[in-house]
Amino acid sequence: MEHTISIKSQAERKVTDTKSLPFGKIPTEHMFIAEYKNGEWHNAQVVPFHDLTLSPLALCLHYGQTVFEGMKAFMTEDGHINIFRMDKHYERFIKSLHRMCMPPVPQKLFTNAIHQLVQLDGDWVPREADGSLYVRPFMIATEDRIGVKVSEEYLFMVVCSPAFQYYAKPLKVKVETNFVRAAEGGTGNAKCGGNYGGAFYPTQLAREAGYDQVLWTDSVHNEFIEESGTMNAMFFIDNVLVTPQLSGTILDGVTRDSLLTIAAAKGITVEERQISYEELIRAFEAGKRVEAFGAGTAAVVAPIEIIAIGHKEYKCYIEPDAMMYQLQKELFNIRKGVTADTNKWNYII
Ligand code: COI
Repeated sequence: MEHTISIKSQAERKVTDTKSLPFGKIPTEHMFIAEYKNGEWHNAQVVPFHDLTLSPLALCLHYGQTVFEGMKAFMTEDGHINIFRMDKHYERFIKSLHRMCMPPVPQKLFTNAIHQLVQLDGDWVPREADGSLYVRPFMIATEDRIGVKVSEEYLFMVVCSPAFQYYAKPLKVKVETNFVRAAEGGTGNAKCGGNYGGAFYPTQLAREAGYDQVLWTDSVHNEFIEESGTMNAMFFIDNVLVTPQLSGTILDGVTRDSLLTIAAAKGITVEERQISYEELIRAFEAGKRVEAFGAGTAAVVAPIEIIAIGHKEYKCYIEPDAMMYQLQKELFNIRKGVTADTNKWNYII
């Protein structure tokens, strides 16, 4: 079925300086919205940003049927808007929706919705080197019924907000061995709202103890590293880039995948495998240079300065010649159109 997107543009346009504001605080002037009812998508529209009216019985408010994505649009050096890896984000969105019993959005509708919205609000794509426009597609269950069931009605929406550096400084993280983020067979590899809500309490405890984020471990042994906060965890030790392998419990990060591809193309050995905190301790205690960082769309490459394991803090390598910054720079150059997009990751508007 063809989905024509109607566009109702806001007369007054006002790009706000958002650089000093927290991530995601200011939306752009427009948003996309489409309704799912009777097994089909209807009323696909780009409209001025506005609040929603929802029944207090809407299922998303009670049982957590919500899924989201996060991608970024960049201004290339030659003045075009580039939406980075939209197809990979779409793939993951569809997998998350499937896991949460939510209907797929046709790829054409997803792509056109984001294209039209980002084009209309193109003035909001920061021109600064460290800026991008964060694009947040999401779906919520809207059927109004308090009984526990799979919703038959949904809203698919896209909103945008200018984004700058997510973390202002290198992170101090704590290896978490009491609480778990996800267990095999659960929803850990789906980008559903509940995964984030469930992480708040252990993260809050870590913050009270002086850390920025937790480094999650597996639910069976509490020993193998999973991911960190809102990011995949990566390590560069002995000239090898190591990251936990994809499983049912960690997110298939797009930045993770991009960095692994870039590293492999540079001739760096890349290992996707289990990595235990014991292995990290051995590396630190042998005096090895350990680079640790989070990789995510919002955070990009977030250097980790301190890893607390039990009562001991270990210091990671964060000097300017660290490999993580080289990988970050190469990713930046592809997204800004400075170097060739050999992997066809850029969607140029
Ligand atoms: C992202 O990096 O896109 C995320 O989803 C992290 C966060 C802003 C929730």
